[in-house]
Amino acid sequence: MNEPHIGLFGCGRMGMRHLTEFHRLDAQVTVFDTDAANLREAERAGARTVRSAAELLALPLTAADVCLPTRHHAAGTVAALEAGHHVISEKPLCLSLAEAQQISDASRAARRTVQVGYIFRFAPYLRALRRAVVGAVAGDIRYAVVRLGAQGSRAPWKHRAAEGGGAVHEMLMHALDQAVWLFGEPTELQLAGQWAVLAERNIDGVLHPSDTEDIAIARGRFGAVEVIAYADLLSAVPTAHVEVHGSHGMLSARGTDNTCWWQPNSGPAAQVEVEDPDTPWLRAELHRFLETLHTGDTTGMHTAEDTLSIMRCLQRPRGAA
Ligand SMILES: NC(=O)c1ccc[n+]([C@@H]2O[C@H](COP(=O)([O-])OP(=O)(O)OC[C@H]3O[C@@H](n4cnc5c(N)ncnc54)[C@H](O)[C@@H]3O)[C@@H](O)[C@H]2O)c1
Repeated sequence: MNEPHIGLFGCGRMGMRHLTEFHRLDAQVTVFDTDAANLREAERAGARTVRSAAELLALPLTAADVCLPTRHHAAGTVAALEAGHHVISEKPLCLSLAEAQQISDASRAARRTVQVGYIFRFAPYLRALRRAVVGAVAGDIRYAVVRLGAQGSRAPWKHRAAEGGGAVHEMLMHALDQAVWLFGEPTELQLAGQWAVLAERNIDGVLHPSDTEDIAIARGRFGAVEVIAYADLLSAVPTAHVEVHGSHGMLSARGTDNTCWWQPNSGPAAQVEVEDPDTPWLRAELHRFLETLHTGDTTGMHTAEDTLSIMRCLQRPRGAA
């Protein structure tokens, strides 16, 4: 493969991590960010920078990488597609069914792929769980629980509804992606409830008002499996847990200690082997993305069509964003 050239839109926290990993994967990265300090940071990290989105889109890129605040994902992705670029976007791809449809249409029209950085697909403990699910270790799977939590509070926009913040977009979408990846597309999906708990967030010693939900719960049917997904921005430490209940017993996987367990209906529990436990998740994700550009095979990645299938099914409570 020739040295890939990535056009990075947004070089904040995640953008800087993408930049570092793309460099490790021998890709060249050119960055646009509206924040001059973040551009200087990108230059210090060895990236080229440009002064406008149009300038970046006009380059002969291998792909565009959208690491903007969530409310800008749809417009950034469509602009990149219309400029003829493949896209990887940070999660979530967009905020509504209308945006998901627009991205899917633009992707077809441009004949370019859109993939979304759902990083948990590259977490070794979840990959172990998925191998066991695919291998039918648990028998007929009927029910699963996916739980994700984080502290939140890192950037004010993540707690503002108008900017695409809140537990649904920040965390629940990860859980719904895990359900799609493990069990297949949803045929039913309801946002069962969402609750705001904290009216303000302390970010670097400054109090910022919060108008988003801090907890969100969804129920859905993914393939043949009934799924409860629980997400929050209140957990003291990053928390990630999946339980899969089948006719033969329970599989469970846990992010806090990177383990996966098999508990049969009767008999002792056993650990499921976690392969390559020290794999850096983001590097593995971006490596897979670069491979897909080479082969055209997006297997294993979340695509625009996966987001569309979630958005088509998702019923929100009256009055919810
Ligand atoms: N996969 C994960 O685990 C994970 C983790 C954190 C964040 N994210 C996602 O990554 C995205 C970015 O989050 P973040 O934490 O890096 O946010 P951030 O606020 O740290 O970074 C956003 C960057 O975009 C820049 N920006 C804002 N508007 C712009 C515009 N119009 N044009 C160009 N640049 C612009 C900002 O200056 C900033 O540098 C979010 O959608 C978030 O949900 C994903």
